[in-house]
Amino acid sequence: MTTTEPSTGNLLSLQSHILSEESRYPGAAGDFTWIVSAISLAGKAIAHQVRRARLEGVLGEQGATNVQGESQQRMDVIANAILMRCLGSRASIAVVASEEDDQPTILRKGTDGGKYCVLFDPLDGSSTLDTNGAVGTIFSILRNDPLVESAEATVCQVGRRQVAAGYILYGPSTAFVITTGAGVDLFELDPFIGSFILVKRSLRVPSARKVYSVNEAYTSSFPAGYRNYLAWAHANNYSSRYIGSLVADTHRILLNGGVFIYPPTVSHPDGKLRLLYEANPIAMIMEQAGGKSFCGATPTLDVNPRKLHQRVPLVLGSADEVDAVMRHL
Ligand code: AHG
Ligand code: MN
Ligand code: MN
Repeated sequence: MTTTEPSTGNLLSLQSHILSEESRYPGAAGDFTWIVSAISLAGKAIAHQVRRARLEGVLGEQGATNVQGESQQRMDVIANAILMRCLGSRASIAVVASEEDDQPTILRKGTDGGKYCVLFDPLDGSSTLDTNGAVGTIFSILRNDPLVESAEATVCQVGRRQVAAGYILYGPSTAFVITTGAGVDLFELDPFIGSFILVKRSLRVPSARKVYSVNEAYTSSFPAGYRNYLAWAHANNYSSRYIGSLVADTHRILLNGGVFIYPPTVSHPDGKLRLLYEANPIAMIMEQAGGKSFCGATPTLDVNPRKLHQRVPLVLGSADEVDAVMRHL
């Protein structure tokens, strides 16, 4: 049951909420708390940059292509740098991996105190930024495995092993959504005091919402099962909402219900979205809120990653709406 903090109730910041969560783990050294606070700091700094991007003339393309073979937006590079500057100073981080960087960055070895790995998509949906569309930062936190030599192998862990996951949505307000494995909590940035304030605890994805979210322009290249589902949805009075920014489409589904689908296409036969820093964190949020997430026939969080920038097909959202898609695949 989603509970909304009354506006006259306790004023709980993300910082104080995570500290109170930490107290549930006797012996916790506070390392994890520091990482969340670094992500929160980066989120505030990125929110500021995103809202001033047009005024400061940093919209548009960087003029480079990233490891994804996609043209980088200048704001992709700025958001990436802000995250690296905020996370680099946290002593418990061993490895950082970003959508924008070919390889992971090793900050320190497990023997030097590196306990966690942080993976992120620094700016998701960035191609919509030029037209003032909602964009986001997606993050995933894993434990470092000091026995694994290669940095890429260390971050290629199955999604179920995530310690925490979430996203920051830069929309009309700046929302911070996080799970540490005990439900999903929603915070909103109060720019006047510079804090993310707890507004909803234990979010639950509403069910029975006849809304699907897919880029129908590619329908002719979808495998038959996806096309059969769309025909069924059209015959059953579904409506459609698609922003083209995963974090914005996800947040709408988390709050209102529905199903997001990115099938295999001709240009992306394995799907377009990246497993480690897009699908896995969003899948953990959805499952923790009572929803579901699949990559083909496999639950997203059970997919064994082969490489850092691996792409997957994705179906996620309300449990019953995901079931309706899976029945057709
Ligand atoms: P990113 O901006 O990090 O590259 O991610 C964009 C992704 C995701 O946000 C969105 O769901 C998807 O691209 C939209 O893809 P299409 O434009 O092919 O629909
Ligand atoms: Mn993305
Ligand atoms: Mn991105």
